[in-house]
Amino acid sequence: MAAQRKTRVAILISGRGSNMVSILDAARAPDYPAEIALVLSNRPDAPGLAHAAACGIPTKTVDHRSFPDRASFDGALQAELEAAGIELVCLAGFMRIFSGPFVEAWAGRMINIHPSLLPLFRGVHTHAQALAAGVRLHGCTVHYVVPELDAGPIVAQAAVPVLPGDDPDSLAARILVQEHRLYPMALALVAGGRARLEGNRVVFAGDVATPEGALLSL
Ligand code: GRF
Repeated sequence: MAAQRKTRVAILISGRGSNMVSILDAARAPDYPAEIALVLSNRPDAPGLAHAAACGIPTKTVDHRSFPDRASFDGALQAELEAAGIELVCLAGFMRIFSGPFVEAWAGRMINIHPSLLPLFRGVHTHAQALAAGVRLHGCTVHYVVPELDAGPIVAQAAVPVLPGDDPDSLAARILVQEHRLYPMALALVAGGRARLEGNRVVFAGDVATPEGALLSL
């Protein structure tokens, strides 16, 4: 039987890139439905870039400081994504906010991982927000990107307990372990066509209410 065609994915990073590494590792499996065709950073010194290059993945830097405004930066990103034939964009610690037209151009084709159980704790300092709120469960979410920050339809979530004595760092570390499990699985659901947008909700193919990879909890 002919191998299934793989979806061409770009991973956008700004720093460490540990989620990118977890996706690159997963994408080595012959039956993984996505091919990582590009890793792109807005920071030339992002440690994740060197790792991707060492893995033989094409890398690009589009330095936001070289552009006068958001629209021209987004235009340069778009040109790189088109040149690489990208079909799906995966944000993994990409610390720039896009212009409306860029988000619209990738509507239903761009996902992000956010370190909270959305819709709780949008924005930054999510672990401090969770501790301040006194929640017992915290986690991470893979969601489609929409113009409103951290507000897109949810693909997958992983939950972890908040333990006595936790500080933002201990909580971040516990969640990061789950991010590394969740994101490759969620990307596989989207890239393989097993999760898709229906209006502003994500539905799963077949009669599986919640496929493996859409819900992880301890
Ligand atoms: C992760 O916590 C992710 O949820 C958030 O930014 C962080 C990126 O970490 N969006 P890394 O660069 O993948 O290590």
